[in-house]
Amino acid sequence: MHDALDVKVKEPVTFVIFGASGDLTRRKLMPALYTLFREGALANDFTIVGFARRDYEGAAFCELIGTALREYSRLPVEEESLTAFCSHLIYHRGDLSDPAAYSSLREKFEGDNALPANRLFYLSIDPGLIDPTVTQLSASGLITPPRETPWTRVVVEKPFGRDLKSAQALNQKLLAHLDETQIYRIDHYLGKETVQNILSFRFANTIFEPVFNRTHVDHIQITAAETVGMENNRGAFYDEYGALRDMVANHLFQLLCLVTMEPPDGLDARSIRNEKMKILGALKPAASTPEHPAGCFGQYAGDGEIKAFRKEDRVNPQSVTETFVALRMEINNWRWAGVPVYLRTGKCMAQKTTEIAIQFKAPAMQLFQHVACEGDICDLTGVKPNTLIFRIQPDEGIFLQVSAKRPSMQLVVESVDMDFSYSGRWTKDLPEAYERLLLDALRGDSTLFTRSDEVEAEWNVIEAILAEMAGRTPVPYAPGSWGPPEANSVHLSNDWKNE
Ligand SMILES: NC(=O)c1ccc[n+]([C@@H]2O[C@H](COP(=O)([O-])OP(=O)(O)OC[C@H]3O[C@@H](n4cnc5c(N)ncnc54)[C@H](OP(=O)(O)O)[C@@H]3O)[C@@H](O)[C@H]2O)c1
Repeated sequence: MHDALDVKVKEPVTFVIFGASGDLTRRKLMPALYTLFREGALANDFTIVGFARRDYEGAAFCELIGTALREYSRLPVEEESLTAFCSHLIYHRGDLSDPAAYSSLREKFEGDNALPANRLFYLSIDPGLIDPTVTQLSASGLITPPRETPWTRVVVEKPFGRDLKSAQALNQKLLAHLDETQIYRIDHYLGKETVQNILSFRFANTIFEPVFNRTHVDHIQITAAETVGMENNRGAFYDEYGALRDMVANHLFQLLCLVTMEPPDGLDARSIRNEKMKILGALKPAASTPEHPAGCFGQYAGDGEIKAFRKEDRVNPQSVTETFVALRMEINNWRWAGVPVYLRTGKCMAQKTTEIAIQFKAPAMQLFQHVACEGDICDLTGVKPNTLIFRIQPDEGIFLQVSAKRPSMQLVVESVDMDFSYSGRWTKDLPEAYERLLLDALRGDSTLFTRSDEVEAEWNVIEAILAEMAGRTPVPYAPGSWGPPEANSVHLSNDWKNE
């Protein structure tokens, strides 16, 4: 078995994918399930039921999945393994609005050749279909009682609502049919190794935790930059949501929580989520001043190789949706009061990177001079402060920038990196985020999924940001840049980390 997948689902399970012909199923869900299967992480008695409207007669569903696996699986797809995997696949054609489709699904759990009774329903469907689907599952008797065997779990994809009101309404609707312990709201960032490593790094090493506070930290920067614009036909979805709702409301807030939360009482889901909730309750946008606004929205423009956002397919040509956002946030608690937290995310940026940089304060006294070089040009400056970086993608790892004496007759120091990269330490591939999260959902571990109160608290902060940003429209920026120059004034020292 693969080192990184060293746990196994022991119980028989039926994994029902609503939206089985969709993009997410083909690119992420099936490749993750295939890896779990190949690595022996699933019980022998498991079945995957694909549910959608399209017609896949006979072997057609296996062919669809085989094509997807050849393109997206991180493991090789030989004929023999594909045939073995397909022997666990069933296609159930149906329309989500049709009660008969659920009755016929229910019949598959009854009788002599019944499917494994534990069931995981994965809702890989349009967010507007979540409520009617769960209502129908409940009406058809497909949801078993909470905390009993056979169990029922429901995985819900993002986006979870578009604002506080819609998230609350969705929570209420789900909780009318399911217990909180049965709902798994997925945020795939939490399945990434470095993200999980944040807590180990902070709380398993005595040297870092004592300096993770306002006395020693100057500021925190969290960046999630993508080089691509609209892909996978996502224009219409993105135009409705924008960068703030698509990225900040979930991924960036979750990273922020993990890097700033207090030590949890234990590693169980409740303890960790309780601590994250405290951060979300204390988080708010910083006060704006004319010189230093608390936020900047941008939208990629351009006529070159990359089209402007407004010219993308299924995007309103007059769209004022932000494709870039930079924010200055504050955490009003004892540990972090006065420490700015900068968040930045965008499409069509200069580099693909997701990282958290914790910049410590400069030494109290400048004893040394520091060499800072850009290409061939070097300058002598004051000593650079230490920075601790959690790189989430690409090249996952943790890096500490420290000052060290440069070999020379003069006492001049230079920044050097103390590196821990996964690829340098372990030769095997890291598990994909979906592999980890599907395995957790199958095993009933909800630690890396978002609780109802967390989602609502996230939207609460987003509403405060929108109120702070009221009336500001996105500033155009060039594709391949780090966003509009105006974003620099959000940072108190104009010192965005651009790597
Ligand atoms: N794709 C991504 O990268 C991504 C990333 C993060 C989150 N998500 C979320 O994941 C979910 C799925 O996204 P996606 O990109 O896979 O969407 P998609 O490609 O549009 O797929 C939608 C699926 O739903 C099925 N469907 C639609 N209406 C149906 C109905 N009335 N009855 C039965 N099946 C129906 C479609 O199949 P038929 O047309 O055959 O019925 C298709 O399989 C969305 O909530 C999205 O926000 C996606």
